[in-house]
This record gives sequence, structure tokens and C-alpha cells, in this order.
Amino acid sequence: MTTEILKINDPNDRRIENAAEILRRGGLVVFPTETVYGLGADARNKAAAQAIYAAKGRPSDNPLIIHVARAEDAELYAETNKYYYDLAKKFMPGPLTVILPRKSSIPPETAGGLDTIAVRCPSHPIARSLITAANLPIAAPSANLSGRPSPTNADDVIADMNGRVDMIIDGGECEIGLESTIVKLEEDRGILLRPGAVTVDALLCVLPKVDIAPAVIGKLAENELPLSPGMKYRHYAPDAPLVLLDGEENAVLQFMQNAPQNSILLCYDEEISSLSGKRLLPVGKRNDLAKQAKALFSSLREADRLNAEIIYAHLPPTDGLGLALYNRMLRAAAHTIKNVSEE
Ligand code: TXA
Ligand code: MG
Repeated sequence: MTTEILKINDPNDRRIENAAEILRRGGLVVFPTETVYGLGADARNKAAAQAIYAAKGRPSDNPLIIHVARAEDAELYAETNKYYYDLAKKFMPGPLTVILPRKSSIPPETAGGLDTIAVRCPSHPIARSLITAANLPIAAPSANLSGRPSPTNADDVIADMNGRVDMIIDGGECEIGLESTIVKLEEDRGILLRPGAVTVDALLCVLPKVDIAPAVIGKLAENELPLSPGMKYRHYAPDAPLVLLDGEENAVLQFMQNAPQNSILLCYDEEISSLSGKRLLPVGKRNDLAKQAKALFSSLREADRLNAEIIYAHLPPTDGLGLALYNRMLRAAAHTIKNVSEE
């Protein structure tokens, strides 16, 4: 398959109509969102949903997120409720996905066979313009090959998807860099299935109660069923093993100073001068979690391009946006945490 690659910065660009036409006839279009790039197809079309799984090399029991142009469009595809609209009022359009009971307008193939669906209304102007032009719900997982880090810029999309999709819209770098927060609504209770830029504290401004699904920070037990099928797969992973360093500031810095030459270090900006001669990928200032979130996936891909044999990074905090970073990094590291203070 030949993939058409279009650089589009203006949501009114006429060529968005060409992308919409591809979607209407069941094709695949990669488009930018404020979180990560999405691999889109018509959510109502079974064959198109199956084409997404094929392009990603993804197991088809892992359900897809349905992207809508307006929060109230969820009505067409899911059973909504008061709390959905409360969340929508505060966080949509934006990086929040809500799990609701599925209506039959969305085939089970799109929903990984579940009786619920995930709804998201992205804020990226090009994503919004594309959904509106296509006039259909767009099913879109992150536009990476299954298991790889999600792409946050067009080069990373092209590396995984060139030749596998009809079109790639290059809309520059994604603002947030980590996938949306996923919350499942059960009456007035929210269950956080995947942390993202909409934090637990932010959700608690709207929902009386938010429980964090155990798999968000813990390891799933051998025969435990995840609430979100996506949680059971090895995820976001670079080719080289990633090891997360836990311990006091100085102990971690000292470990990095003594790390072998074949390693790549995801360090804080403040540490650059203390790590001269090492192979570094700085991810932002220690307290700038937003910058670190934006840098994470592209840094993991860059470490592979640099042929790292092992990657070391700081174990992030678990509060605020830290929880999203922690969750992604724990999976990318296959739960490998090294405590360096004890040595
Ligand atoms: O930011 C995002 O959400 C990006 C952009 C493209 O919108 N999309 C994204 O999609 O991250 P994907 O497919 O990579 O991740 C979707 C996650 C998976 O872990 C899947 O298991 C979960 O959402 N999911 C989808 N439908 C679900 C459902 N009905 N119940 C529970 N989890 C669901
Ligand atoms: Mg994904």
C-alpha cells in the first residue's frame, strides 16, 4: 500500500476533505491529537476496525476508543448519564476518555467484543476538523505498531505506519505526549483505568468517588483479569531494556555517573553538567512533569535509534501528572525498578 503523507497545520485546509473521504470509504488515516497520534477508521464499519488491528499487529480483543467531534455525540453510540455530562463540561474537548455502555450502532468488532465503549472528544483542531468533515465516529488507537511507544510526532508515525495506512496527516508534535486519561463510570463512581493529563484530583472535582484500578500502578497477578484489556499487554516498550532508578537524588545521580558506556540515560536537565561523557537524553527539569511526559515516548524511540543496550531513567513520582508517567514507564520497563540507595 502507498501511504500519502500530508503536512497540515490549518484545520480549514481543503485536503482534510480527502482524508475524510478515505475514512468514509473504509480506509485508514493517521491524524494528530493533543495526546498522541491516532490510527483512525470508521467506528461503525467492522471491516475498517479489523483493518486497524491488522495495521497495528494488535490482538483484536483490545478495544478501540471512539472519537467524536462534540461530547453530546456520544449519545449516538453509548448510554450516557449525568456524570458523563459533568465530566464533558469540564474536560471535553480534551484528553479524557469515558467508558460507557455500548449502543448497537457500534459493532462488537470495534469494542473488542465488550458491551461497553470508550468515548473521547479530542481538542486538537485537525482531529476535530477531520471528525466533522468525515461525519462519522472515528475509532482510533495510538498509531504505533502494537507494543511500541505511542508516536508523538510524524517521523515516529512514519517509522511504524508507512505502507500500512492510506494517509498520514503530519500535524507536528503532540502537545501532551501521553495518551488520554481513561475513566469508567459506574453510577457516581469513577474507576481510573489509565492515568493521563486529566489527573485524579481533577476527576474528583466532578465525581464523588474515584477508585484507581489496581493495574495502574501494580502488576497484574498471573490469572487476574484486567478491567481494561489494554493493560495486559507489554506496552510502550523500546527494544532495549529500560530500568527505572529509585532512591535519593544523589544516589541516583551517582549510579548514572558510573553507568556503563553502552547505556543511555534519561536524565533531568539539572544533571547534564554532572554527567559529561555519558550518553544522555535529557527529558526536562526535575519538576517539569509536563515536559517529561511530552518527551517520554520520543526519547524511548530515540534510545533505540542510538542502539542503546540498556536505558536508565528516574522512577517518577505517583502524584498529579506523575501517575501517568509512572504508569507508562513501569510498563515500558516491564516493572523493572532498581533501588540504588541500598547499594
Ligand atoms: O489519547 C488517546 O486515548 C489515544 C488517542 C489516539 O486518542 N488513543 C489511545 O488508544 O491511546 P489505544 O487504543 O492505544 O488505547 C485505548 C485503551 C486500551 O488500553 C483499551 O484496552 C482501552 O482503551 N479501552 C477501550 N475500550 C475500552 C472499554 N470498553 N473498556 C475498557 N477499556 C477500554
Ligand atoms: Mg496504544
